[in-house]
Amino acid sequence: MNWIMKSQPNLKILITERQIKNKIKQLAKEISRDYKGKILLLIAVLKGSFMFLADLIRELSVDIEIEFIELSSYGNSTESSGEVSVIKWLTKEIENRDILLIEDIVDTGLTVSTLLNKIKSHKPSSVKVCSLTSKPARRETDVPIDYLGFEVPNKFIVGYGIDYNEIYRNLPEIYYLENE
Ligand code: IMP
Repeated sequence: MNWIMKSQPNLKILITERQIKNKIKQLAKEISRDYKGKILLLIAVLKGSFMFLADLIRELSVDIEIEFIELSSYGNSTESSGEVSVIKWLTKEIENRDILLIEDIVDTGLTVSTLLNKIKSHKPSSVKVCSLTSKPARRETDVPIDYLGFEVPNKFIVGYGIDYNEIYRNLPEIYYLENE
């Protein structure tokens, strides 16, 4: 299955498995240093961040808890509607907790900015953002990314958890779609 998908001519490699692994080790080191002695609550945004989360937490040396949230996504197109609606929200109180939001991509920034406002309204001790990728060329609203994996060009990317119409999430590398 993987072989068939990777052989599609419009999938171009952008970030290799080795580059992702190395970057995650580096990010985990920084996060572990910054949250030493604390219990960190990771809030992962489904579905795109699941693979990043799974690899990142195995490199962390601090105690963590995990929560998942899910928002409306692109659906069948590669353009965001700009509207963010909640499909699944937190299952526990986050007041006085140290929160790290885990994202796959910060594109326009609207998702993270909406989430940060919602999370802050629950009065956590601290909130930071960790994103595997960022597309600065597409930004519409300024959002802080405290821990960033890779800046990517203004192209539609897939793989390593990130989809196009729900496929390609299982690719271990990150690709871009050539004609999008
Ligand atoms: P934002 O609200 O525009 O920052 O978009 C964030 C969300 O859009 C991400 O979490 C992804 O689900 C989706 N997205 C943005 N760019 C891409 C892409 O290149 N490939 C796949 N999904 C994307």
